[in-house]
Amino acid sequence: MTEKGVEIAPASGKLGILLVGLGAVSTTFVAGVEAIRKGNAKPIGSLTQMGTIRLGKRTDNNCPKIKDFVPLAGLDDIVFGAWDIFADSAYEAALHAGVLEKSLVEDLREQLDSLKPMEAVFSQNYVKRLNGTNVKNGKNKMELAEQIIKDIADFKAEKGCDRLVIVWAASTEIFLEIGDVHQTIEAFEKGLYDDDAGIAPSMIYAYAAIKSGVPFANGAPNLTVDIPALTKLAEQNGVPICGKDFKTGQTFMKTIIAPGLKSRMLGLEGWYSTNILGNRDGEVLDDPESFKTKEESKLSVLEHILQPDVYPDLYKDFSHVVRINYYPPRGDNKEGWDAIDIFGWLGYKMQIKIDFMCRDSILAAPLCLDLALFMDLAQRAKMKGIQEWLSFYFKAPQTAPGLYPEHDIFIQLMKLKNTLRHLKGEDLITHLGLEYYD
Ligand SMILES: NC(=O)c1ccc[n+]([C@@H]2O[C@H](COP(=O)([O-])OP(=O)(O)OC[C@H]3O[C@@H](n4cnc5c(N)ncnc54)[C@H](O)[C@@H]3O)[C@@H](O)[C@H]2O)c1
Repeated sequence: MTEKGVEIAPASGKLGILLVGLGAVSTTFVAGVEAIRKGNAKPIGSLTQMGTIRLGKRTDNNCPKIKDFVPLAGLDDIVFGAWDIFADSAYEAALHAGVLEKSLVEDLREQLDSLKPMEAVFSQNYVKRLNGTNVKNGKNKMELAEQIIKDIADFKAEKGCDRLVIVWAASTEIFLEIGDVHQTIEAFEKGLYDDDAGIAPSMIYAYAAIKSGVPFANGAPNLTVDIPALTKLAEQNGVPICGKDFKTGQTFMKTIIAPGLKSRMLGLEGWYSTNILGNRDGEVLDDPESFKTKEESKLSVLEHILQPDVYPDLYKDFSHVVRINYYPPRGDNKEGWDAIDIFGWLGYKMQIKIDFMCRDSILAAPLCLDLALFMDLAQRAKMKGIQEWLSFYFKAPQTAPGLYPEHDIFIQLMKLKNTLRHLKGEDLITHLGLEYYD
């Protein structure tokens, strides 16, 4: 900490963004950045690119863009790399994903075609509905981790990158619970040599990232880097980590509506959420074991926001159901329905219906960009371990042991912006008005 904020190394040179999984989200992200670089699109949905931050008093009229306030890598300095179990280039994968219009993908063909995925660490034991051939072989999980570490080093050298960030945007793995193998770094490393079944492929990437000193963000609900062994390793190696599960469609809406209901002390009887989607993610989530991972992540938000223990008259025993239905005709254009049963003054019942006709990857792509840029900033500011200030982006934010996650999107945004103010030595904004006092 200097007198005025924290010392942050400059964002000079190239930033390599390595994506695990080159599917709908990743290709939409990469294509979007390429289109913006060409001047054909604006970075809509990205807080780092479009958001502003108020500094000082309201009367100061000082509200710079976030990207002008903190030193972030510029879009022109980004280089992409990826791993996937299918060998398709980003061009072919984008066409397959069907998120973007064909004409837009054709327009970016040269850039997208040059992004060819490296061989993945994969096992069908962890994603039942997929099977690909662009997959590494190794005599045990430690050897696979070493291969990823080599990929990372080779990519950095070949592309001349100064810094790297890794974002997991690969398929949701089956539900795993934290076991002994996840408790300590020693147990985890032994587990890698012993091919322990508790170590999923995503954990192998996360381990390789942290060993390589590369920040790791987890966009899926898998445990991945949310285990004591890897959080300890991240702290020890001075590496920022964060997760889990991009907060995009229905949960995004939930964390907007629920704080509003609570702010007015309106009660909740039940919240029924269902989704129909037809992309590959939907297909993977059609497997009950992958769905369970997603369900856990989606269910936790209301409990934490509404605090039934503190407000039993309003929120005790509310019913919360989440369903995901794989329905191919919808492709990536998910429909998220919510039927919300609330009650007000004298217990009178009311209903709210939400029908969010969203586009999953269109909502997720700017989150990938922001996370990559903020994780790079965190590392240059020597922030290590779990980055709770990035909870804003996640359905199930990773927290330090013993702390509950903050789900209210407005508190999350305040925390994020105050972290940026803190980094730059600006006064934190508490929204406390002192003008009423003499
Ligand atoms: N789109 C959203 O709004 C959103 C929101 C929250 C979370 N997510 C999560 O983001 C992830 C990506 O979503 P998507 O729609 O792009 O899915 P997708 O199925 O289109 O892409 C995932 C890609 O990951 C690849 N893959 C699977 N296992 C791999 C491994 N071990 N190594 C490398 N590649 C692997 C698959 O082959 C596929 O190409 C999913 O886990 C999804 O649940 C998406």
